Amino acid sequence: MDYPAILVNKANPLPEDYEPADLVTVNIPFAHAGNDNRNYMRRPAARALEVMFRDAAAAGTAPIGVSGYRSYKRQQEIYEGNLAVKGERHTSLYSARPGQSEHQTGLAMDISAPSVQSTLTTEVENTPEGQWLRANAHRYGFILRYPAGKEHITGYAYEPWHFRYVGRELAAFLKKEGLTLEEYYQLLAL
Ligand code: DAL
Ligand code: ZN
Repeated sequence: MDYPAILVNKANPLPEDYEPADLVTVNIPFAHAGNDNRNYMRRPAARALEVMFRDAAAAGTAPIGVSGYRSYKRQQEIYEGNLAVKGERHTSLYSARPGQSEHQTGLAMDISAPSVQSTLTTEVENTPEGQWLRANAHRYGFILRYPAGKEHITGYAYEPWHFRYVGRELAAFLKKEGLTLEEYYQLLAL
């Protein structure tokens, strides 16, 4: 299956030269100043994320974008930086190798909150922003991609900040059934 349900993980990498053709700036508050590749997503994901942020704000919360699109090369720098500081075991749980990151698809956004100073910490789950997003993201086509308790399936530690656009229909289905994208593809293969 392809866009927007594309499966990218440790077993399903993207080519080094893959770059989505429809990247646009996402108009939301970001943790960093200025324009940056991190502000980009594919157009349908960007527009859906903007609506989600607007509704989150109307509900009294203030989510903050941290990292959207990342090129293969940028992911390589991040992975190698983490590897040097944190070692292989920790790094492979939190940071995708180049080609294996959903951020290269332009369909993922890391989202944090003011009360945790826009950091990517598991504490995001206890913030009003994290809780609102967890309850509502599917209505905008997003899923919490790396849930707690599914580390052995997704290959990554729990990341309450990483949201992935899959479209509204699939997001609602995965939310209702409590499935990860990996489990969905396993079902399709039956
Ligand atoms: N943190 C996720 C797994 C990534 O690096 O894409
Ligand atoms: Zn992420």
